[in-house]
Amino acid sequence: MFDMQEELFSKIEYAVDFIYPSDLYDEDNNPDMYEDEHWDELANYLHADDVAWGASKVVFWFSHIKDYVIKVPLMGYYEDDVEDHIKFRNAKFDSNSKYADWDYCGAEAEIYNLIAEKYPELAKFFAATYFIGINRHNVPIYAAKRVTKKYDWDIENESKISSTSYTKARKIVETFGRCGGLDENIISLFYEQYDETEVDAFLDFIMTYHIDDLHSGNIGVNEDGKIVIMDYSGFDS
Ligand SMILES: Nc1ncnc2c1ncn2[C@@H]1O[C@H](COP(=O)(O)OP(=O)(O)OP(=O)(O)O)[C@@H](O)[C@H]1O
Ligand SMILES: [Mg+2]
Repeated sequence: MFDMQEELFSKIEYAVDFIYPSDLYDEDNNPDMYEDEHWDELANYLHADDVAWGASKVVFWFSHIKDYVIKVPLMGYYEDDVEDHIKFRNAKFDSNSKYADWDYCGAEAEIYNLIAEKYPELAKFFAATYFIGINRHNVPIYAAKRVTKKYDWDIENESKISSTSYTKARKIVETFGRCGGLDENIISLFYEQYDETEVDAFLDFIMTYHIDDLHSGNIGVNEDGKIVIMDYSGFDS
């Protein structure tokens, strides 16, 4: 493990050790897990400042960790003999992956690792996700560079998009469709904020590796005010 990862894990170990597998999957297929109350309660219990969740991950904010959020995969993994249960699968990005096939945080960390190793010039387009450890109940824990949601920020910024950026984005969508789900407004924001050749390489990466599900809720803004992708594990049910 890198020093940073060990240090981060040691900072939250006391909290995340209280996350049990049963918090992350729903044996009875009971919709509680997809209710805010469930997560608010857990966040409270862990003394987390805030919590957010999506289809396959839950994210915690801790006040003493300013630069990162803690990401935990939901374990949509159920016994086959129980009907109606959703079984997450295909999370594995690489077939030799060390992560479980329900672990969408693992897929994200794996994709980031590939970027860092083979496409370092594209790293700036992604909020970095790292595996940081396994808690005492065998739950894998990840950290991701903290970003903010795009929503509050975009009205002002979208009005500043130049027609050059917009034209480039339109051309991309006309030629390739919505790359990974990115629409022309978001693509034009990328062109507005980064070099054209870099954005082209980034979109090429998204398409080559079939990164999907890039709806606007999965786009964030980093500390430099630039838009980045914060959820790039895709989702394949
Ligand atoms: N790096 C980050 N910084 C800040 N917030 C984040 C970060 N990553 C995720 N989040 C927050 O946590 C929520 C859930 O994370 P994420 O989108 O990765 O999970 P998901 O379950 O895959 O979502 P989806 O429902 O889109 O598939 C995000 O919508 C966002 O609010
Ligand atoms: Mg998401």
